[in-house]
Amino acid sequence: MSKLVTASRLDNVNYDIRGKVQQEANHMIAEGIDVLKLNIGNPAAFQMWAPPHTHDAIREHLQEAEGYSDSRGLLVARQAVADYCVKRKRIEGVTADDVFMGNGVSELIQMTLTALLNKGDEVLIPSPDYPLWTACVILEQGTPVYYACDEESDWNPDIADIRRKITDKTRAIVLINPNNPTGAIYDDEALKEIAQIAREHDLIILSDETYDRVIMDGLPHTSIAALAPDVVTLTFNGLSKSHRLCGYRVGWVVVCGPKEGTEEFREGLYLLASMRLCANVNGQYVVPDALADEGPDPVMMPGGRAWEQRNAIWESINEIPGVSAVKPKATFYIFPKIDLKKYPIHDDEQFALDFLHQKHILVVNGTGFNWPEHDHFRIVFLAEAEKLRYAARELGDFLEGYHQD
Ligand SMILES: Cc1ncc(COP(=O)(O)O)c(C=O)c1O
Repeated sequence: MSKLVTASRLDNVNYDIRGKVQQEANHMIAEGIDVLKLNIGNPAAFQMWAPPHTHDAIREHLQEAEGYSDSRGLLVARQAVADYCVKRKRIEGVTADDVFMGNGVSELIQMTLTALLNKGDEVLIPSPDYPLWTACVILEQGTPVYYACDEESDWNPDIADIRRKITDKTRAIVLINPNNPTGAIYDDEALKEIAQIAREHDLIILSDETYDRVIMDGLPHTSIAALAPDVVTLTFNGLSKSHRLCGYRVGWVVVCGPKEGTEEFREGLYLLASMRLCANVNGQYVVPDALADEGPDPVMMPGGRAWEQRNAIWESINEIPGVSAVKPKATFYIFPKIDLKKYPIHDDEQFALDFLHQKHILVVNGTGFNWPEHDHFRIVFLAEAEKLRYAARELGDFLEGYHQD
């Protein structure tokens, strides 16, 4: 057989979170080396288990979940999501008909962009981003255009930069709020300004709110759809992180805002949902029960495990000379900055690889999140506080003697 090659549409598609450095870590593990993997937000890998009541819902519906569901999802799940949107997120007028269930938010990001984009359409994406957004835009032959998020302003979006980047090809603005990889929660003022930009330029908002319940200290989170009922907003969420059920692949997208004029797009989503028959049904049965949680999640509150881990990594990272990080308010991620005057790094993937080889600790380089400079990296703070402090000490030690040719 001649060489089996990939389609050219994959040429510029990247997902560094599971990329070259992670593959090298896997080789090292296969050779028996103990690697501390701080690269993926998978709570179960760190024995951070789902709340026990979600297990009851899974067990209870095992047999009922044997068949396909409606392509959009089970009505009980969609109704629970609609109620959550209206009662908890204050998004007006959402009904079960506005909700599409998916195999995680990941599948729905791809389906949405397939339904939305024509070749050359531009999508405004935050930098840094969760790189699946960029990958899916490219896969659909759209063009990612990055707007800056400002580290000096708690990683809030730079509104002037968003305005500068709009052209007559712009179709949509992506928000990731709370944010992976920075741990930011966006201010209402920023959200209102983004909604205003969408209004002025007739853009659709794609708001990834996967972490809306993964918030420290009971801080509030606002869905942009609640502030802009007149703007079409697709709001994405799921149980992977809020209920630590990544493996069940439960996600949803809600078409919020005016219904008029969105009929064809909804039909497109329905077509794509039907082509993959349905999402994992057993996972969908957990949704009503999971969304009945009032919160806040004790693991994110003072003294809780994630809260302790966040503090441990934030404090110990900031103790390293020439390394600093904004304190994450949400998520499981911190995105520290390396002072390149002190440590002249010109290739951050090489930095991550060298750190892995020398210290057996796996982090993800910042350019993997479509950050333009080689001066950031992401740490997942799901490991125990003691391990995170150890990782930071090892990083300090590594950087002290590190230089790139
Ligand atoms: C911001 C963000 N969106 C979406 C996803 C995808 O999550 P899932 O497909 O498990 O719902 C992730 C996973 O890490 C994420 O961080």
